[in-house]
Amino acid sequence: MHQADVIVLYNQEVAHSCYKMRFLSSEIAESAKPGQFIMIKAGGEFGPLLRRPLSIHRILASEGAVEILYKVVGTGTRLLSETKKGDFLNLLGPLGNGFKINTDLHAAVIVSGGIGVAPLLFLAEKISEKKIDLLILLGAKTKNDILAVSELENLGGEIKLATEDGSLGCRGLVSELLEKRLGPPGSPVSKIHCFTCGPRRMMARVAKLSKQYKIPCQVSLEAGMACGIGACLGCAVETKPREWENYFASQPHYQRVCKDGPVFDSDEVVW
Ligand SMILES: Cc1cc2nc3c(=O)[nH]c(=O)nc-3n(C[C@H](O)[C@H](O)[C@H](O)COP(=O)(O)OP(=O)(O)OC[C@H]3O[C@@H](n4cnc5c(N)ncnc54)[C@H](O)[C@@H]3O)c2cc1C
Ligand code: FES
Repeated sequence: MHQADVIVLYNQEVAHSCYKMRFLSSEIAESAKPGQFIMIKAGGEFGPLLRRPLSIHRILASEGAVEILYKVVGTGTRLLSETKKGDFLNLLGPLGNGFKINTDLHAAVIVSGGIGVAPLLFLAEKISEKKIDLLILLGAKTKNDILAVSELENLGGEIKLATEDGSLGCRGLVSELLEKRLGPPGSPVSKIHCFTCGPRRMMARVAKLSKQYKIPCQVSLEAGMACGIGACLGCAVETKPREWENYFASQPHYQRVCKDGPVFDSDEVVW
């Protein structure tokens, strides 16, 4: 983990209220794994006290640069959106565990909802580098909320889109695309792994389908965070106890999204 003041190379609105920022940090560029995140201090000393967690969207290794993709939802992200080229930002990272890409993986399906695509581009790039078959399912409310399509298309895998209002791709939920692709329950599904990030209800649906089809599934969870390093317990989420913890199974079991996650096996999470 690294704490530093980094210089912003650009910060541009790429869709309504969504910004892409690139900054220089060779330390993060060299060490980050897909699914990890950074904690950014937005607005300098006059901004909110607490840093804000944002996923690592992409690494540009040759430039020692890192990209984040974020949606403006409140004070911290609004202040971040006002950052200009040449400004400095104080941040901490890379943090969290990241996605696991097993060596025996033959095919992967990435299921993204809205801004949930933020950690998934970096993951898709790593999966493509390993020549693993990749299907990307991108969903959002409207076509304006579908992000990072051209970057994902450049990877050469298959991409299917779904919007709730039908303005782009199929009308409906992205989890329905996954369901269609998996076929009727009981269909044989070859060694495939699922990776997902997006609204909790969408991930819960993807987790349920993965369980039904016996597909391993990793989910990237969100939670409000104060420290980002496992100290405050503010980001705890309820999970199922592991086998060796069965002794305590009658007690609720919690894990920290910042330190134990943000990526969890979907079976672990109490949805
Ligand atoms: C590990 C991790 C990675 C993340 N990666 C990204 C990313 O790559 N891009 C991105 O746009 N966002 C990401 N988020 C969410 C992001 O951290 C929040 O949107 C941000 O902290 C909001 O800060 P704010 O000061 O703008 O809003 P606040 O003033 O803190 O909140 C404004 C409103 O947004 C709601 N809110 C705040 N945080 C969240 C959240 N995590 N989920 C749902 N609602 C929330 C609040 O309840 C409130 O209603 C991530 C969160 C986590 C935990
Ligand atoms: S944010 Fe403090 S323990 Fe996770």
